[in-house]
Amino acid sequence: MIYLDSAATTFQKPPAVSLAMAEALRTMSSPGRGGYEAAMHAADMVFQCRSELAELFHMKDPGRVVFTMNATHALNIAIKSLVRRGGRVVISGYEHNAVTRPLFAVGADVRVAAAPLFRPEEVAGAFDRLIRPGTDAVICNHVSNVFGFVQPVKAVAALCRKRHVPLIIDASQSAGLLPLDMEALGAAFIAMPGHKGLYGPQGTGVLLCGESVRPRTLLEGGTGSISLRQQMPDFLPDQLESGTHNVPGIAGLLAGVRYVRRQGMENICQKERQLALMAAEGLQQLPGVRVYTQPGLYGQLGVLSFTVEGRDSEETGAALGEAGVAVRAGLHCAPLAHRSGGTLETGTVRISFSDFNTKKEIVRFLSLTDALLH
Ligand code: ALA
Repeated sequence: MIYLDSAATTFQKPPAVSLAMAEALRTMSSPGRGGYEAAMHAADMVFQCRSELAELFHMKDPGRVVFTMNATHALNIAIKSLVRRGGRVVISGYEHNAVTRPLFAVGADVRVAAAPLFRPEEVAGAFDRLIRPGTDAVICNHVSNVFGFVQPVKAVAALCRKRHVPLIIDASQSAGLLPLDMEALGAAFIAMPGHKGLYGPQGTGVLLCGESVRPRTLLEGGTGSISLRQQMPDFLPDQLESGTHNVPGIAGLLAGVRYVRRQGMENICQKERQLALMAAEGLQQLPGVRVYTQPGLYGQLGVLSFTVEGRDSEETGAALGEAGVAVRAGLHCAPLAHRSGGTLETGTVRISFSDFNTKKEIVRFLSLTDALLH
């Protein structure tokens, strides 16, 4: 199989990830639940993972790195901590259902900072027009999961700081690829999966909590701390981490984070961009194929969407699957992004990359796609 669906999850993981998970199952129990060796070993590993994530994302306090089960879970905590029923929220036009559905559930007054694809200056301008003091929250993804569009989060963060509005960044497609400096951005929250660009296993996610933010719980339960009290602890990470931790998952995530740090985010990013560029140029040669990209992949990361004239995107995706290429087709849980990109009616076929893809795979993917379209 040629795996080109890393925007959903990086299926190929560094071997150290499964080794670390097996080792955790063999040697670790639950952090904070005892002073015996297996519990202490688990606590040390979990703390180590928090610390390395804090370093990677420039945070002073590893305690404000919270483990979740995925990015959706992290976004739900962030959104439900900040947004009141009827509260004004400004979001980009490229948000995922993991943002729009919780906002719908809360009953927020959602304003979309609408801008065309690959126009970061226009995205920033649209946010500028909509963010007012008193806005409950601004939400912007760093990279679109449909088009790989890199959004201007630094400019949006500057607007939020100036107007004292809390910012939530969805780093689902950028964590492990693009630098994010929590301190410099001054974001209230940054949410990310552990199982995409950080190469951890499914079932892991991370919520970075800003210094001044006061999160609210989504779940209440045992934390191994101040057990006599019935209120949840008001300190992090305990406040947001009730119940037994996903210790094997966090061990795998730690191995994934170490892999990313060893390889270097910039190197992984460069490699993915080269593969995406090669795929985009190859696809553009095929009759009837429209690729959503810019010359030189300007403002875009390793996620590419395309459509084929007269062909249903889901059918093309299924046919590629039968030919041994794993892609994701349709609306990618992001109807808003498709509306903004002009592909809501057709959906798209999406290919996305990881550090484990090769040029040879792209050549093969292009020839299989060519054969399919003839
Ligand atoms: N949000 C993930 C994707 O785009 C699951 O496939």
